[in-house]
Amino acid sequence: MNNNAIGIFDSGVGGLTVLAEIRKTLPYENIIYLGDTKNFPYGNRKKEEIIKFAEQNVKMLIEKQVKIIVIACGTATSQALDVLKKKFDIPIIGIIDPTVKYIEEKKYNQIGVIATEGTIRSGAWERKLKEKMPQIEVINKACPMLATIAEEGKAQSLEGRKVIKEYMRPFKEKHIDKIILGCTHYPIYEEIIRQEMEYDTELINTGITVSKYLEKYLKENDLENNQKNRTEKIYLTKPEKEFQQIAKNILNESLDIQAI
Ligand code: DGL
Repeated sequence: MNNNAIGIFDSGVGGLTVLAEIRKTLPYENIIYLGDTKNFPYGNRKKEEIIKFAEQNVKMLIEKQVKIIVIACGTATSQALDVLKKKFDIPIIGIIDPTVKYIEEKKYNQIGVIATEGTIRSGAWERKLKEKMPQIEVINKACPMLATIAEEGKAQSLEGRKVIKEYMRPFKEKHIDKIILGCTHYPIYEEIIRQEMEYDTELINTGITVSKYLEKYLKENDLENNQKNRTEKIYLTKPEKEFQQIAKNILNESLDIQAI
């Protein structure tokens, strides 16, 4: 069991930002990544659809005999995590709770959240943050175009910069200096957001908070891999021509991508 892989899924390439952090924190763990490119984007879909896709992804990963599942997707975490936890026996970790825990430890009293339309509409970030910190002020901003522009490999283009400018305006006006990247595609824009903000801003990468949480979970539950050689498999539900290049930008290497 311990040698079984960690299963990770997202709608596309975004979850690779989480995979990158898991690799750094847990260099000896086997990984199976599933990008549900066939159903991308998740961000503006109905909750029922998100639950359906998330269930399919979990089933595919269970068939591959993973030992734990990481939902490397804000949209699926915010709308499907509770349902998945009830339905499946396997441990499942989303990106919200580990990040809320980090913010709680830091005792922040004001925080910005950028995420997909569906995630913001669900109110999950604000609800979970306020459950732990009733006083915290949460400034939400849905960024409907960001995941798609990133998935097309155009994050660094003029179009990417233009939408970042628009989406960051409300935060700049209030001088918000801590922002959760509530969609896993957004770390791809980290550099551009930093340039746009003009003042020192902490951009909270959920991949980092999740991998620390995962490390602790595996240790506490005696699930760590006890072998030193690792494997990684990447599956897509539909071939995507931009995927390889974007993956290379995130992970600094080419991936062996398979169809599922
Ligand atoms: N990367 C995902 C998220 O964190 C999904 C984006 C999308 O498919 O729209 O929300």
